Amino acid sequence: MKNIYGIKGNIIFSPSFGKLEILSNGTIIVEDGIVNGVYKELPIKYKDISVTDYKNKLIIPGFIDLHLHAPQFPNMGIGLDKELMPWLNKYTFPEEEKYSDIKYSEKIYKLLIKELWKLGTTRCCIFNSIHKESTKLLLDLFNKSGLAAYIGKVNMDRECPDILKEDTNNSLLETIEIIEEYKNKYALVKPIITPRFVPSCSFQLLEGLGNIANKYDIPVQSHLCENLDEITFVKKLHPNFKNYADVYDNAKLFRTNKSIMAHCILVNEDEIKLLKNKNVFVAHCPISNLNLSSGIAPIRQLINNGIQVGLGSDISAGHTLYIPDVIKYSAQVSNLRWLNSNGTDEKLTTNELFYLATKGGGKFFGNVGSFEKGYEFDALIIDDSDLLIKNNLTLEERLQKFIYIGNSNNIIERYVAGKIVNEPNF
Ligand code: GUN
Ligand code: FE
Repeated sequence: MKNIYGIKGNIIFSPSFGKLEILSNGTIIVEDGIVNGVYKELPIKYKDISVTDYKNKLIIPGFIDLHLHAPQFPNMGIGLDKELMPWLNKYTFPEEEKYSDIKYSEKIYKLLIKELWKLGTTRCCIFNSIHKESTKLLLDLFNKSGLAAYIGKVNMDRECPDILKEDTNNSLLETIEIIEEYKNKYALVKPIITPRFVPSCSFQLLEGLGNIANKYDIPVQSHLCENLDEITFVKKLHPNFKNYADVYDNAKLFRTNKSIMAHCILVNEDEIKLLKNKNVFVAHCPISNLNLSSGIAPIRQLINNGIQVGLGSDISAGHTLYIPDVIKYSAQVSNLRWLNSNGTDEKLTTNELFYLATKGGGKFFGNVGSFEKGYEFDALIIDDSDLLIKNNLTLEERLQKFIYIGNSNNIIERYVAGKIVNEPNF
């Protein structure tokens, strides 16, 4: 017997970049967690199913965060007047050391997951610290919560404090252990290969991780071209490679449709071509990029070149986990790029950014981030009644208002893969 139900209300989703699909007072039919269709008038064959009527509320896809660092959660808001390398050394590495302590990890990760739940992030891609046990704990806690995630143990074997410097072989063995234990353990929570970035990994480590990723068919996430000093350092470490991206590619870490690179602010034309050829996803993290004075990523250009883009909070270089905040900053930095380019670099619209926050990042998870037929039903129910000072707003305007002036109190229900997810009771 199939589990079939309907969800009724004002439906808004983005099936393609820049396009909104809107249906007032419509019904989404969900069969075994998958969207079967969106209807204005319910077909007669569905007359006996149970329909939850959310009345005048908005129904939108859940938000996707393509890039964040779980162990940096306690550091949110601290040290943001530094650039990448000094920030890593002064604030980030000292905090990440603490996750050898499983009790501390548990306390922080429970708080983090509750916060993600509250903010309407239904799926995310997470960097842990180097620690194997805290990575396993994070995988288990996410599974308990009902939210979906890719979670990776960070690998690094150089250019970091000794206490975080892994033995290369041990780093690979621990990564394999996590993959073998968790690859098929949970439906919605999976491991991901996570070399921190080129400067903190020997080529031997990167190659080893590339081999593991391909052997076990595991996705990959890392950082690329975030900061000038970082890129200069990569050139010095790898003078024989064409560019920064070429190092990952030679290590077989650009897996077609299965790799995410955060930032990509300073990528050159060859790197853009390579990202496109390998269908690598870019996680756009404008809040982090502003805080660490990294720059403004050329998102319009990447998208025009056919590259898949999603949004990332990148806490704690970013100071907020709330994806509508990431949408707003994305819009604002794109306005600045437009100004600085004398209008040649077109601005990103709210509709385009809503796409990136939902289906753009959701694609990394498969059919996720939309209410098209065949998509996993991840949704947020939005009660925006306190925002409607003015009458007669269109549904598109109500979505804009929620994104720009709403907050997590407006989110009254979350669905992931067809199931209501309540606040984690841990
Ligand atoms: N590059 C390498 N590690 C990090 C990190 O933790 N945050 C950011 N923003 N960039 C990085
Ligand atoms: Fe990051």
